[in-house]
Amino acid sequence: MPTSVTGLGTYLPPRRVSNEELADRFDTTDEWITTRTGIRTRRWTDTGVSTGDLAVEAGRRALKSAGLSPDDIDAVVLATTTPDHPCPATAPDVAAQLGLGHIAAYDISAVCSGFLYALAVAHGQIAAGQAGRVLVIGAETYSTILNPSDRATSCIFGDGAGAVVLAGTESSDQAGDILGVDLGSDGSRKELIRIPAGGSRQRTSPGTVPDEDLYFRMEGRQVFHQAVTHMGDSAIRLLDRIGWDKASVNHLVGHQANVRILKSLARYLDLPEDRAVINIDRVGNTSAASIPLALADAAVSGRLKPGDRVLMTAFGGGLTWASTAIIWPDITPV
Ligand code: UT7
Repeated sequence: MPTSVTGLGTYLPPRRVSNEELADRFDTTDEWITTRTGIRTRRWTDTGVSTGDLAVEAGRRALKSAGLSPDDIDAVVLATTTPDHPCPATAPDVAAQLGLGHIAAYDISAVCSGFLYALAVAHGQIAAGQAGRVLVIGAETYSTILNPSDRATSCIFGDGAGAVVLAGTESSDQAGDILGVDLGSDGSRKELIRIPAGGSRQRTSPGTVPDEDLYFRMEGRQVFHQAVTHMGDSAIRLLDRIGWDKASVNHLVGHQANVRILKSLARYLDLPEDRAVINIDRVGNTSAASIPLALADAAVSGRLKPGDRVLMTAFGGGLTWASTAIIWPDITPV
């Protein structure tokens, strides 16, 4: 059964954190952050606000955008690197807070590829006849896992959430349909992006773990090169599978990791740089929330128009990568 995106909602916490504010705290400058990453500002939650809180807001808005009530949803899939707790998953709490009833609700852990992994899984769940409509959410509070003495990661990541409603449809080839997916991973490079402690490999008990092992860590330069080739190759495999020429892609919505990565990715795909949708300047790298936030930004600004060809691709820790493509539907993001 074909599946179609019928609603899109986003939520950003109100607190803006500028490069200047970070320059006061870290050995960095607005000039370094802007030229090396393209980021000018990002949002961070206040203490006590969780990923689940952001996910609930984005989910509520996606339902409104789709014109649905809570009774219409059969499952919630939440992609996040920053769950509210190591156990249980965050999605059941989000489903309960949204009043969705006793439906299937589970988390997906694929770091910055998480949203597209979640979309692919929801697509499969509907295609298998296990659900009619799935709320797919990407939500993160990276500000809670950043190492306050690591200027490289602290300047890059932001908090936020985005959600879509994915629904089974009667006919294929209509706007909003998920036209195909490409998913992949390379666990031999797991050390490039990780939080060392807190899991079963390096358990956390008081006094036994160096502080820095409790925080998010990334080998930025190595990740940079992996990001372009894996997103690019994944996107090319997907385009081959669905029969789109590269040149026919109207908008390249890549994971907002770094503006230099997005421009390199466009070049890798032989696309003009201006086909790359960019909102990292205002939100930073929001990991699993990145793709829906970029989609909503481009749709609200009028850049994405119904009927346009949209190619989405993401890359993140694991390593993982994922791509999908849709014809942009006539929806209004909330
Ligand atoms: O979302 C998941 C996937 N993530 C990504 O795809 C991120 C990929 N990586 C990147 O975006 C970039 O590698 C970074 C933005 C993380 C870093 O940029 P870079 O151009 O690769 O810098 P670098 O790590 O190679 O560091 C270059 C220099 C170093 O100084 P030395 O050793 O050359 O003296 C760093 O210490 O820049 C220094 N540096 C900084 N300087 C000022 C690193 N962070 C900062 C900073 N401010 N915030």
